[in-house]
Amino acid sequence: MNKDMTKPWQGRFTEKTDQFVEEFTASIKFDYVLAPYDIKCSLAHAEMLTSKDILSKKEFEILKEGLNSIDEDLKQNKIDWSVQLEDIHMNIENELIKRVGEIGKKLHTGRSRNDQVATDLRLYLRDIIDEVCAELSVLQKNILELAKNEIYTIFPGLTHLQIAQPISFAHHMMAWFEMIDRDFERFTEFRKRVNVLPLGSAALAGTSYNINRKLTADLLGFEAISKNSVDAVSDRDFVIEFCSISSLLMMHFSRWAEELIIWTTPQYDFVSLPDKFCTGSSIMPQKKNPDVPELVRGKSGRVFGSLVGLLSLMKGQPLAYNKDNQEDKEPIFDTANTIISCIKAFVLLIPEISLNREKMLEAAGQGFATATDLADYLTKKGVPFRDSHEIVGKIVQKAIELDYQLTEFSLEMFREHCHLIDKDIFEVLSPEGSISSRTSYGGTAPAQIERSIDEASESIKSRRI
Ligand code: ARG
Repeated sequence: MNKDMTKPWQGRFTEKTDQFVEEFTASIKFDYVLAPYDIKCSLAHAEMLTSKDILSKKEFEILKEGLNSIDEDLKQNKIDWSVQLEDIHMNIENELIKRVGEIGKKLHTGRSRNDQVATDLRLYLRDIIDEVCAELSVLQKNILELAKNEIYTIFPGLTHLQIAQPISFAHHMMAWFEMIDRDFERFTEFRKRVNVLPLGSAALAGTSYNINRKLTADLLGFEAISKNSVDAVSDRDFVIEFCSISSLLMMHFSRWAEELIIWTTPQYDFVSLPDKFCTGSSIMPQKKNPDVPELVRGKSGRVFGSLVGLLSLMKGQPLAYNKDNQEDKEPIFDTANTIISCIKAFVLLIPEISLNREKMLEAAGQGFATATDLADYLTKKGVPFRDSHEIVGKIVQKAIELDYQLTEFSLEMFREHCHLIDKDIFEVLSPEGSISSRTSYGGTAPAQIERSIDEASESIKSRRI
């Protein structure tokens, strides 16, 4: 074994680690992602130790220079990681000792890899949350831009994938806005729970050094300090919560993707995607496939999988730290990369979709979409709603028999079913009339949509991002 590669925990061992075991237990193949956070964490730890005279100022300067030089080389991809050194923490420590000598060995005073890895992960996730929130805000702005122009675009609102009631296309888009808004809120709230410092908990019991955890927290921008050292090193709730709120986000994206996929079929033909967002078939020359939304829909599976994997990872673990926890890295990194790329895909895609407004209007005029308006019309004239429902049901039955739309009925034909129907019914039965009558708070009437767009724009403007 290369002398440089001596494991920091070698002391009590008489045998060299088995090569298979070395490979099997190492995490460096994936946890190198944490390198910049590990360095940040070490710099803060060293500064705190210095403030308490556990390290001298001179020693701190040497450690700081060494860590900064590693950080520089890292940015230029100049560092080789070693499997023999197991993980990112031991790799960086070893690199530091190589660069600054004996003083490098003092860095690990009063800390453990257990509190170190928990701190690195929280720093990493904090950055991911900030990136997610920034991208979600851009996406929401894109939705608003689209919605603003489509307030009067008539769209067939569906339930059970059957034509239900006419709505404005902007209203449908604003439904997506709301879902994304809740995701944004969840990530923002989650940030508070992530932004808690575990460092100073050491292996599990805390440390006998007179450390200043508040200073470390301030240096790293943590808003709070963990209250129990056993919990702090074994807690992976924040990892599970990250995958949980990411799963909700991906479920939303998957539904959205599904709609785009359906809408682009020739059977629906409500929207088309630009060629640059689609791919073709190697055999069928006519094909233009919506690969981007399909992949977003597909990628939701791996995020849900990570959530279930992490719950299973944690459920049987006694307190405090167990090596099992090392298995949290790949699902977190994969989830972070997946959600960020899916949000970006939608950020790019949404401004590029083109709408086939005629097709939407045509579909909204089918399927007796204004039957509820007819029932409400009767009820407003004094017929109890259940009876109105029954009468309109019979009218629809007749329309199916004659192969008519409701608007094709004459006034006399309507009157055969109910004498209270007048010629003003035709306005009520038009998709425009139906939409403009839905003035209840949060409904599809133009004034309601305008209000919701205004409120949404204001709320986005007030964000710090
Ligand atoms: N690579 C380890 C992980 O990811 C770091 C903590 C190791 N601690 C230990 N006591 N073996 O969890």
